[in-house]
Amino acid sequence: APSNDYQAEDATISQGVVESNHAGFTGTGFVNLDNVVGSYVEFTVNAATAGNATLAFRFANGTTVNRPMAIAVNGTTVNRDFPGTGAWTTWQEVTVPAALNAGANTVRATSTTANGGPNLDRLSASVIGPPDTEKPTV
Ligand code: GCU
Repeated sequence: APSNDYQAEDATISQGVVESNHAGFTGTGFVNLDNVVGSYVEFTVNAATAGNATLAFRFANGTTVNRPMAIAVNGTTVNRDFPGTGAWTTWQEVTVPAALNAGANTVRATSTTANGGPNLDRLSASVIGPPDTEKPTV
């Protein structure tokens, strides 16, 4: 499915640094969040129309310890696990459903433990299409 991609290194970063020392990232690097509660990356996700979308966070966690994050979409938060991926060069995705508004939406991923977050590469937001009821039947 088509998606709009937002690189973490281009987002607003609080308590983290952009790095590129672990291969497999997209764009020009990834965000290494500080290993503290509260470190975050905040994306502005643009939607042409209001509707339900899937947000996919691409990440790596080279430890064996989960690095959970709070994912806030326009201020409404859900929690997700970001488990070990086996290596810092092995990237996987965690998804969150989101009801997006037309225009700009604020999506913030915040570390909730003292281990901080995983390394974050990218947020992909599925493109919102017309409701199913408006799609032609084939
Ligand atoms: C290592 C790794 C970093 C990672 C960090 C961590 O230093 O190289 O990319 O962010 O561990 O544990 O968070």
